Amino acid sequence: MLIIGAGGGVGSFMVQLAVAAGARVAGVASAGKAAFVRSLGAERVIDYRATPDPADWGRFDVIIEAADGRALHVLRRALTERGTLAIVGADKSGGPLLRGTDRQLRAILLNPWVKHRLTAVMQRENSDDLATLLDMVDRGTLRAAIDEVAPLSGAFPLIDRLAQQQTRGKAVIELV
Ligand SMILES: NC(=O)c1ccc[n+]([C@@H]2O[C@H](COP(=O)([O-])OP(=O)(O)OC[C@H]3O[C@@H](n4cnc5c(N)ncnc54)[C@H](OP(=O)(O)O)[C@@H]3O)[C@@H](O)[C@H]2O)c1
Repeated sequence: MLIIGAGGGVGSFMVQLAVAAGARVAGVASAGKAAFVRSLGAERVIDYRATPDPADWGRFDVIIEAADGRALHVLRRALTERGTLAIVGADKSGGPLLRGTDRQLRAILLNPWVKHRLTAVMQRENSDDLATLLDMVDRGTLRAAIDEVAPLSGAFPLIDRLAQQQTRGKAVIELV
């Protein structure tokens, strides 16, 4: 299984959840986040700057896309014949109407016509899932990877770091 954006807020949870479910996980991240992604349980980290074409990453049964950008046909190069591609990340190329969901909608529309399974994931919190996650945290199989905790007075620099995708995992702004 491949997690793209494995060093980010979404990806850092996905790597751990996939490993906990028994998957063998590879992550795509910049070189500076490789050690962090491995610490979450990934067997292998692919530096997308050194190896930009997904066709060179290997073939994966499941790909979860939690970063911005790559087109569906480019991502599908790294899938096995009947592999699944789940799009979580927003697409900056979406127009004013569809915005970030453009690629997700195209995945759903294309899905009936191809051998690959193409799908989109939109977050929908519910108490059962949150209870499962809390239980995993209690058992030590999941951790919230927090890069930085800043006071409210330090919110702007932290938001800048988040916008530049420099944080590893999540960041927290304290309100008290
Ligand atoms: N569908 C939903 O319900 C939902 C919910 C939350 C978030 N999202 C979307 O999911 C995406 C990730 O959110 P997030 O909060 O995890 O953001 P984030 O913390 O900024 O993580 C994104 C990660 O992608 C990496 N990245 C940037 N360019 C990349 C590339 N070309 N290839 C591979 N990795 C790349 C970044 O770091 P490095 O470049 O240093 O590796 C960063 O670690 C965003 O597009 C967000 O809008 C969707």
